[in-house]
Formats: sequence, C-alpha cells, structure tokens
Amino acid sequence: MADRIPQPPYRFHLLPCSGKRCTAEMGEAMKGRLKDLMPDRKALGVRISTSSCQGMCELGPNLIVYPQGVVYHGLQVADLDEIVEQVIRGAAAQEADDVGDN
Ligand code: FES
Repeated sequence: MADRIPQPPYRFHLLPCSGKRCTAEMGEAMKGRLKDLMPDRKALGVRISTSSCQGMCELGPNLIVYPQGVVYHGLQVADLDEIVEQVIRGAAAQEADDVGDN
C-alpha cells in the first residue's frame, strides 16, 4: 500500500499555517509573501503548501520548513525575507558548491 518514493519531486517543503489564530495575525500574507520572494521556486525545488492548525497556536504565526524540520514562530511578514534568503537560497547555494567540488 505504501511505496517509498526514492526522491520527492521537490527539495524544500514550506508549510505556512493557515489555522484560525495564525491567519488572524498574518492572514494569507505569509503564503503570498513566500511566493513573491521565490518566483523561481520551481527551479529551487520549493513547494509551498498551507497547513491547517499545527497545534502550536500560542507560538504563531508559524511556518514549518522541511527537510530541516524547523518551526519558525512568532513571524512577521518581514521575517520571511530572511528565512528565504538564509535557509532556502543558502542551502541551494551550498548544494551547488558541493556539487562543484566533486
Ligand atoms: S492556528 Fe497556527 S498553529 Fe494553530
């Protein structure tokens, strides 16, 4: 029934919370801002999927990032710029360097 996929079709999976409490503070701005910051997200291998409540409402607004498995919390829209730059683009650049070193 369950097959193991050798490699997912994306490298990063971002899950902005779209639960009631998180969206009360940030609305749909988080997903929209992430998309605006990464018009090249397909080339970067980024998938953005809103989630329902992540069960950490008191910490929100929340964003989970895989494969790092990190929860960013208490986010403001401006925080997303830094996350995209350091976590996504930083990791993508590091991977490109690693491939170049081989
Ligand atoms: S509404 Fe976002 S964690 Fe509950």
